[in-house]
Amino acid sequence: MTDPQLFLTERVQQALAVAFGPEFSDADPLIRPSQFADYQANVAMSLGKRLRRAPREVAQEIADRLTGTDSPGAAKVSGPGFPGTVEVSGPGFLNITLDDAWIAERSTEILADPRAGVAAAGSPQTVVIDYSAPNAAKEMHVGHLRTTIVGDALARVHEHIGNRVIRQNHLGDWGTPFGMLIEHLLDIGEEAAVAQLEAGEGNEYYQAARAKFDSDPEFNKRARARVVTLQAEEPETMRLWHIFMNATVSYFNKVYTRLGITLTDEDIAGESMYNPMLAQVCDELQERGIAVVSDGALCVFPPGFTGREDQPLPFMIRKSDGGYGYATTDMATIRYRVQDLKADRIIYVIGATQALHMSMLFASARMAGWLPEHVRAEHVQIGSVLGSDGKMFKTRSGKSIKLVELLDEADDRAAAVIADREYDDAARTEIAHAVGMGAVKYADLSVSHDSEYVFDFDRMLALTGNTGPYLQYATARIRSIFRKGGIDPARATGPIVLGHPAERALALRLLGFGAAVAEMAEDSAPHRLAAFLFDTASAFTAFYENCPVLKADVDEEVRVSRLALCALTLRVLETGLDLLGVPVPERM
Ligand code: ARG
Repeated sequence: MTDPQLFLTERVQQALAVAFGPEFSDADPLIRPSQFADYQANVAMSLGKRLRRAPREVAQEIADRLTGTDSPGAAKVSGPGFPGTVEVSGPGFLNITLDDAWIAERSTEILADPRAGVAAAGSPQTVVIDYSAPNAAKEMHVGHLRTTIVGDALARVHEHIGNRVIRQNHLGDWGTPFGMLIEHLLDIGEEAAVAQLEAGEGNEYYQAARAKFDSDPEFNKRARARVVTLQAEEPETMRLWHIFMNATVSYFNKVYTRLGITLTDEDIAGESMYNPMLAQVCDELQERGIAVVSDGALCVFPPGFTGREDQPLPFMIRKSDGGYGYATTDMATIRYRVQDLKADRIIYVIGATQALHMSMLFASARMAGWLPEHVRAEHVQIGSVLGSDGKMFKTRSGKSIKLVELLDEADDRAAAVIADREYDDAARTEIAHAVGMGAVKYADLSVSHDSEYVFDFDRMLALTGNTGPYLQYATARIRSIFRKGGIDPARATGPIVLGHPAERALALRLLGFGAAVAEMAEDSAPHRLAAFLFDTASAFTAFYENCPVLKADVDEEVRVSRLALCALTLRVLETGLDLLGVPVPERM
């Protein structure tokens, strides 16, 4: 066990069981990093209440068992001696400090571990991740960019810990707007339509179609008729729909490629895919009495959802005009993910504004038995990205921002950040691209996914603070140490010995990598891994300022150890950034 927090949890649990009985062996000892010691355990507080004893006394007893100190008649915790010191403080806190030797041995161990301390899932789960999901009939905006970036990081981390990941890009590729979109395609000609859509001008295309739909009765009539042939999946209409969708997807793919997003065409499972299932979904739910007709519409009334004046809130799966909607599709989708994809866990990475829809969906699906108890479903709520004016992020002219243009601007600004470096043009472009992309992605990942934040190029491109470029820079700097020393990091295998406090702090930090990765996967929280990487890079900076590595007067044993610490830090940062989807340029 290399992770200190897990190690201490296990040891304290053993001590609890010996001291107070086996029923305490899985009590959470509440081990947290502390400013007074390496860790603090707070379990004695709640335990004191439960045992009706003074928490300080309880804490002392745990400390004694933990360290094997004899108190009269006490049984010792079995196993090797405790590699650290334990002190009782305040009303009953346990302050735990680990021995340097333990930290040194564990860090040498994870340096030799190809997974750097990240455990592989014992029994792999099938994790379905619904993310990105732009709408073809509208623009792909910065909000979709964030769901794409966060979802992709989650997919990467689940794959890394050995789960079976099924990515699902639930494109908005169906519904009544497609009548006018297809008619507009006929009006302007296939070639022109394709060119415009591939260039990412879906919004302009949509607006042109919409204007005609509103002002031209003949066009309006055609568009409505087209909706009917589309619903019936009539071949010629489907051919035109495919032309429209292929061009649109080709633009989405440009954005994905540009950002290193792992979604492929195989992962597309848009709304259209569920169209053939919708009638049956409604029929079945109605027959089983799960859905009832209310004001002409077919609705599920999941328990616990009420609107004004305690009226039960409907989850409408068929409108009174017979049309299906977003809710119908999502009911079909959840059933498919459980029954056909065999999901153990379904993660929906979608805007926070859809919170009510999502919780009603989950409740309705549970009622229908389509989301059994053992399947975990969660809405990873994505907060809005705001402009400097505090409103939804738009361009100066007020129009929403075209993503490729935004990414171009990120590249340009990143190029300015590295302008004083001496690189040839090709290298410069490559580095600028990695830095620009990394800055934009990391900004989305480093704040908690459900909080809003202000899109600010200057802040995300800063070389200090919790930014992508800072972490890229820290990583590139470690690579340059090895380059300068002419040493292959793979050969820096230690052993690690700890002398300087900055070495100890760095090594202790590095031991937490596995837990940080596990926590990100468990809680769907990329910002936790981001914070860990930032703390690691900061600990490295302090180490690097205090502990020379390549200088001639450094002892051989110390140099070997410091190189090993550099190598482990490098691997943790590289792996961690890769899990977040943030690229690292070789030099910076
Ligand atoms: N296309 C939707 C939007 O842009 C997101 C779809 C999310 N996935 C889902 N299963 N509802 O808001």
